[in-house]
Amino acid sequence: MKKMLQDLREVAVHAILGAADPQALEALRIQYLGKKGDLTKLLKMMGKLDPSERPAMGQLANQVRAEVENALAQRKDELSAMLLERRLTSEAVDVTIPGKPTQIGHEHPMYVVLDEIKDIFIGMGFEILEGPEVELSEYNFTKLNTDEGHPAREWSDTFYLTEDSSILLRTQTSPMQIRAMEEKELPIRMLAPGRVYRKDEVDATHSPMFHQIEGMVIDKGVTMADLKGTLDAVMKKLYGEDTVTRFRPHHFPFTEPSCEMDVQCHKCGGKGCPTCKGEGWIEILGAGMVHPKVLEGCGIDTNVYSGWAFGMGLERLAMRRFKISDLRLIFENDVRFLEQF
Ligand code: DAH
Repeated sequence: MKKMLQDLREVAVHAILGAADPQALEALRIQYLGKKGDLTKLLKMMGKLDPSERPAMGQLANQVRAEVENALAQRKDELSAMLLERRLTSEAVDVTIPGKPTQIGHEHPMYVVLDEIKDIFIGMGFEILEGPEVELSEYNFTKLNTDEGHPAREWSDTFYLTEDSSILLRTQTSPMQIRAMEEKELPIRMLAPGRVYRKDEVDATHSPMFHQIEGMVIDKGVTMADLKGTLDAVMKKLYGEDTVTRFRPHHFPFTEPSCEMDVQCHKCGGKGCPTCKGEGWIEILGAGMVHPKVLEGCGIDTNVYSGWAFGMGLERLAMRRFKISDLRLIFENDVRFLEQF
């Protein structure tokens, strides 16, 4: 019996300390200490021993059990330490591997042009204003001398937000003229770029949302000559010193007199080509002397002050500047397109 216990101890401890993984260790535990395990079987044989031998054998058996249990615990710790070690090496992060490059997009060509225009006007003493895209009809139309019944106020052209058509998505940046005159001290030199909305179907030259830049000067003794001189200078800065401009009479409700400004086609020099659709000139903006009714509506004394204003489409400027043929490209924001500028 003694020999059997000692042999079992030797074999079991050896096997346990050499177990390769937790599964093998568990199998060994069952093999020795399980209900039908080797040690359990030996203990059951105790009953057949001579009573005088039992105490010594019982003691030895308990010792063997304790040693087997210790070996099991020791190996269990060793194995989990080994496993952890193995995971740490296999899952280690190599901090020296170069990072994956992130796609950060590209500055939008329209904003490249907008920034240039802002810089030019800031250099001339203008301040940049921003105003609401959800606007009162009062500001978008009425205070701009565009009364009820004017075709520009049609529901078919304008995104109204209320049944009584008192609130809308602004159709132009011109309401910023009113906001500036009501809020600012005179004199005023302001530039107000932003989004505007009209019920237009999307095609190569139309979009229900587009951008305008409004500009306005109110001061003593301001004349049409200032308007022409300033806008001509701006176009030369934007498109080059040899840029030629012309002013044509036009009509806007909120300016008197009103005009449109064209820039001579850079492609054909005014002879007429596909770029200018045979015209020789490309229309750039609408402008005029701020209507006395508009000035007076904002509490400005027209005996002392006068002003001029203009509004231009930003997409069209960017398209001309970068020779982009389809307006939709401007809004799709495909990086493959944007990266070309
Ligand atoms: N708001 C006009 C439009 O959307 C453009 C415009 C014309 C603005 C003349 C002006 C201006 O400030 O004086 O067609």
